[in-house]
Amino acid sequence: MQIISNISEAQNELIQLKKSGKIISFVPTMGYLHAGHMSLVELAKKQSDLVVLSIFVNPTQFGPNEDFDSYPRNLENDIKLCQEYGVNILFTPYRQEMYPVNFQTKVLLNNLPNVLCGLSRPGHFDGVAQVVLKLFNIVQCDFAFFGSKDYQQVQIIKQMVIDLNLPVKIISAPIKRENDGLAMSSRNSYLNSHDRTEALILSNTLNLAKKLLKNGLTNVLEIIPVLEKNILKTNGQIDYIKIVHTETLQDLKHINDKALLALAVKFGKTRLIDNTILER
Ligand code: PAF
Repeated sequence: MQIISNISEAQNELIQLKKSGKIISFVPTMGYLHAGHMSLVELAKKQSDLVVLSIFVNPTQFGPNEDFDSYPRNLENDIKLCQEYGVNILFTPYRQEMYPVNFQTKVLLNNLPNVLCGLSRPGHFDGVAQVVLKLFNIVQCDFAFFGSKDYQQVQIIKQMVIDLNLPVKIISAPIKRENDGLAMSSRNSYLNSHDRTEALILSNTLNLAKKLLKNGLTNVLEIIPVLEKNILKTNGQIDYIKIVHTETLQDLKHINDKALLALAVKFGKTRLIDNTILER
């Protein structure tokens, strides 16, 4: 496995590989890799000749009171995992090179960032779009893989790819869960054992919604209070529980054929998200 930090070195290497006809898959991450990330690598390997994984804790997607400084990092372990799973190029750019002092360009989308997580994390998705566009331009991948726990992020990246005619196909992979149902996330490492147990209410609530729908409840105004009550059995502080259109992410009143149920809940200081598709 090659480890490259310098942007032009990575870009030149990948231009050469592309010219020689290699199909390139890309898994962008912020590191602290877990089985969720590695499931993306496994998928990526099937789709291409070589897999590039990036690790960059992107400062522009963190708000001023968010966890940029404390975001978990463990490069040594990440390198081991990448080697074990057959990543070909590990790209670990430096912050000063990604955002030099005179950096000026923003990438702003109009509608998709203004709902769900975007409401409590203003600017977050602009930062995500900005860094992902930069990474795509450096890596020049044919396919890029994202976990669907960050459903809104995936929709935004897909929209950016359409709007800007980027020559990359976005592939979203199913949420990877721990055996007890907790969606895998680097931020789970913040949870103490009490909050870790309480956080199981997230997947429990998604399953409850599926049961309600199976029992014929389709009115969103009736479903949401039942889900809220379920979460409030714990000390979790609800940021949002929403049932929305799977593509536009706009609120639905009624579940017709399918809908996205997305939620964000804080346990202690840790804000966790989860989602599922509800299908009739
Ligand atoms: O999902 C993530 O880890 C990040 O938002 C991403 C896509 C790597 C951009 O920094």
